[in-house]
This record gives sequence, structure tokens and C-alpha cells, in this order.
Amino acid sequence: MSLEKEIKKRRTFGIISHPDAGKTTLTEKLLLFGGAIQEAGAVKSNKIKKGATSDFMEIERQRGISVATSVLAFEYNNIKINILDTPGHKDFAEDTFRTLTAVDSVIVVIDVAKGVEEQTEKLVEVCRMRNIPMIVFINKLDREGKDAFDLLDEIEQKLGLTVTPLSFPIGMGYDFKGIYNIWEKNINLFTGDSRKDIEDTIEISDLSSSDLNQLIGDKAADKLREEVELVEGIYPEFNKEDYLNGKLQPVFFGSALNNFGVRELLDCFIEIAPQPRPKQSEERLVLPNEPKFTGFVFKIHANMDPNHRDRLAFIKIVSGKFERNTPYLHVRHNKKLKFSSPNAFFAEKKEIVDVSYPGDIVGLHDTGNFKIGDTLTEGEVLNYKGIPSFSPEHFRYINNADPMKAKQLFKGIDQLMDEGVAQLFTLDLNGRKVIGTVGALQYEVIQYRLEHEYGAKCSYEPLNVYKACWVEPDNPKSEEFKEFLRVKQKFMARDKHDQLVFLADSSFSLQMTQQKYPNIKFHFTSEY
Ligand code: G4P
Repeated sequence: MSLEKEIKKRRTFGIISHPDAGKTTLTEKLLLFGGAIQEAGAVKSNKIKKGATSDFMEIERQRGISVATSVLAFEYNNIKINILDTPGHKDFAEDTFRTLTAVDSVIVVIDVAKGVEEQTEKLVEVCRMRNIPMIVFINKLDREGKDAFDLLDEIEQKLGLTVTPLSFPIGMGYDFKGIYNIWEKNINLFTGDSRKDIEDTIEISDLSSSDLNQLIGDKAADKLREEVELVEGIYPEFNKEDYLNGKLQPVFFGSALNNFGVRELLDCFIEIAPQPRPKQSEERLVLPNEPKFTGFVFKIHANMDPNHRDRLAFIKIVSGKFERNTPYLHVRHNKKLKFSSPNAFFAEKKEIVDVSYPGDIVGLHDTGNFKIGDTLTEGEVLNYKGIPSFSPEHFRYINNADPMKAKQLFKGIDQLMDEGVAQLFTLDLNGRKVIGTVGALQYEVIQYRLEHEYGAKCSYEPLNVYKACWVEPDNPKSEEFKEFLRVKQKFMARDKHDQLVFLADSSFSLQMTQQKYPNIKFHFTSEY
């Protein structure tokens, strides 16, 4: 098959949601449709259950599982679908942000009763900034929830989206009768039987027909007609172009647990969701159908077994064909590397593959060559942009607790930071090292891994920091900037790429600083 055709048949996406909205259940149902798994329960949730004896031990346990769910690939109607895992636990939020640089579109899952939740807001904001096409799936319609119109309002307001429903629920919770598919012009009646692969679909091309009354009763039929009229009056008509440009988000309703509304979502998804998209590098825009291979590392997974300290680097293929045993240029190291056993991912297993195409993810065994954001090419010097760091939420000094093991400690910290486990800042004033994380649990993970994988011991000391802000002066030579550096000396640090960072100790002090130095910009991400 030609490169063009391979590209055309691929859809690489992520499912984002607040924990418990139904991401794992929906993923599983999608895999069932693809015939990739035979029964429900085959995909392990990689979320950390509340109340586990030790959250930390739970993380350790989950790490094993999460390699398996990093990429779930399957075929449906001759389309190759790659689902990239986006961890829901807040301690892994940074991992999820980075995965979003490797998807071509996303599905946002929202719980009909809970509406828009915090984690969803953050993740959708990242997608919006990058104009990633989004489809919204409102889940758990078998339960009592918010009124559909109220919920659509909430999504528009809290998430800043422009929505248009492509399906509409008939009743909800106890009264849930089914779904009218605006996109396909048919009705699915809800039986509550999740064992059925595909629900009965009844064509209804004309809502005013009395067939509708017979199907769902007079009251529900009248209500549906009114609601669909309202939908047509309020919301813009679906337009694929706007969806692909991130300007319009279609909405589906359903119940993942009951396998209801999922096929409609999937059928529409493969029709409208983008094939692998061009990607901007620092040097130029790279198109997927260019014959030469390029790709970038968006995730690194370390092996927890101290006897096998190899890691798996996940590469998203952007252009050309990736082939086994072919030397590729590791641009940052200016060195050619060959991979004898690249892994491709399927529903529940990984396998060595000879060839992969744009949109695919390959896992490369790595002994420490890669860090997140690295680019591989056939020889061209290219650097893919767009794996920003976000300001951590927690900050602590890290100290060496075993003076004999300083070298091991630094190597360990270095490698863990390359993996993206946390962020390291070095204070300008005294060179002390500060670890910033999204979740407090990461400190335990780092301590444990330093000890077990590198034989080094560390201790932490509290440090009062509210946010790390990447600093961009309008004029680096101005008196204003010089004064800022002098006055705020003890709050200034460097990140791993030697970029200047201001560690603000409170939101108030950040505000005051912004007011006092109006010609300096303070960013919450390292890329601006
Ligand atoms: P997550 O990955 O987004 O965190 O959510 P997950 O799929 O694990 O779903 C969270 C809970 O919501 C699960 O229940 C799941 O069974 C339930 N759920 C998912 N979709 C639906 C739906 O359409 N209707 C209803 N009523 N429930 C749904 P749990 O009790 O937390 O877990 P489990 O013991 O069932 O696995």
C-alpha cells in the first residue's frame, strides 16, 4: 500500500476526562467494536483507586499496567485507530499534557451528572490552544443528570467551546428511552442490555412521522420534536472544516457502560476525525506524506526492575516510513542510531514491527539516549517544537543524603527529569536544586526510584513557591529588567534548558511583581 493510503487510513487520538467520567469504559467499548478484545474488563483502568492502602504502592503496581495501555491500536472498517492513553490521575497530568502533543484529535468524556470538572477544563484548554479537533461524548445517560441544554451551555461557558449536538437523548436516567442521531437521522432505543454488540437502529428520516409516536410514546415524541427544533435553531450546523480547525465541537450522548451511543460516536469519528496532520518543527512545517521518516519522543517509560534498567521511548511518526534496523539521526546527539526491535502496540500486546507509518507510535528500547522532545530523522537537522513544561504545583529542595553517592544521585535526577517525572530548577543565588512536581506523590516515587535504580539517597526540604514563571523581558538590556533581576535575586532559577524562571512565592507577590515590571512577561509554560 502506498504511503498516502497508509496515512489516509490512520486516526490517532486521545480520550480526555476527569477521573471517573468513563474514559476506561469507553476505551474498552471502542476496542470491542474493533474486535480487538473479546470481553469487557480486558482493559485495566490505570487510575489510582481512592483509598488504596498506599497510593505510592498503587502507583508502582499501575506502572506495569500502564505500558500495556499506553497505546491501544485496532482496526475498524478498514481504519487503523491508535488510542493514546492520557492518565487521569492528577499526579500524571504532565504526562497527559505531553501525550496531547502526539494526538491528531481528542474525544472529551463528560459525566452527565457531574458536568464539566476541573481536570477536563485544564486538558481542554491545552487542546484549544493547539486547535486540536475535539468531539464531546456525554456519558452515563442511564443515570439522572443535568438537563441536556443546561449541560451544553455549561460546556460552552466553562470550556470555551462552540458545540453542536449530533445526537440527542430521549429522556434520561429512569426515563431514558434512547437517542436520536441527528447525524445519521435514526433512533436507537435503549434496552439496558450491554451485552448486545450493536443496538437496534431504526431509521427516522422524518421526525414528524407518526412512527415516532409509536416507538417512544406521544409525550416523548412531542418533546423530542420540540427539542430537536430548538437544537436546530440554537446551534450552528455541523461543518467538518470548522471541526478540523478546532472552531466547532460536535457532541454525542450515550452510556459507555451500556454500550449505548458508542457505535454512532465511532462511525462519525472515523468519518470526520483527521488523519495524521502536518507538524511544525523549529525549521519548517513537515507533511506526513514526505517520503523521509521523521518522528519525536513524547513519552519515556522506565522499567522498574533494577536488573533491567532499560526504558521504552515512545515515538510518534510524523512523516515517511519508519523501518527496523535502519540508521536514523538522533538530532540532539548528532548521532546515528539503529533499532533492531521497535515495538508496535495492539489492543493488549506489543510486537516487533518492521515498518510503521505516520500516526503510528513505536516503542524503542533505550539505555539513556532519549529525552522527551527528541527528534529522529533520516539525516535532516529538524527539531520538533511543542512539548512545553507547565508550572509545577509543588516545590521542594532536594538534598543528597549520602555524600558517597553524589554522582549516582545526579545521574538519577538527570535521567528521571529526562523521563519527565518532575522538573528540576537550579537557584541562581546558591546553586541549590529544587524539584517541582504536579502531584505531591511524585516525591515518594522519585525517592524510591533514586534508591532502587541508582543506589542514591535523597531528602527533601520544604520551599514555599506558588508558581514557576518563565520570564520574558521585552528588552533584556533594560534598566527595568536589571532591577527585577537584582531585587528578585533569591527567587530566580534556571530550568533544565537553562531558561530563566521566577519562583513566585504567592499569587499576591506575583501580581505585585507583574504590576511593578510591566515590560516583563511571566508565563506559566516554558513555551510561549
Ligand atoms: P475513568 O476511566 O474515566 O476514570 O472512568 P471509568 O471508565 O473507570 O468509569 C468510572 C465508573 O463509572 C465505573 O464505575 C464505571 O463502571 C462507571 N460508568 C462508566 N460509564 C458508565 C455509564 O454509561 N453509566 C453508568 N451508570 N456508569 C458508568 P465504578 O463503580 O467506579 O467501577 P467498576 O467497579 O464498575 O469498575
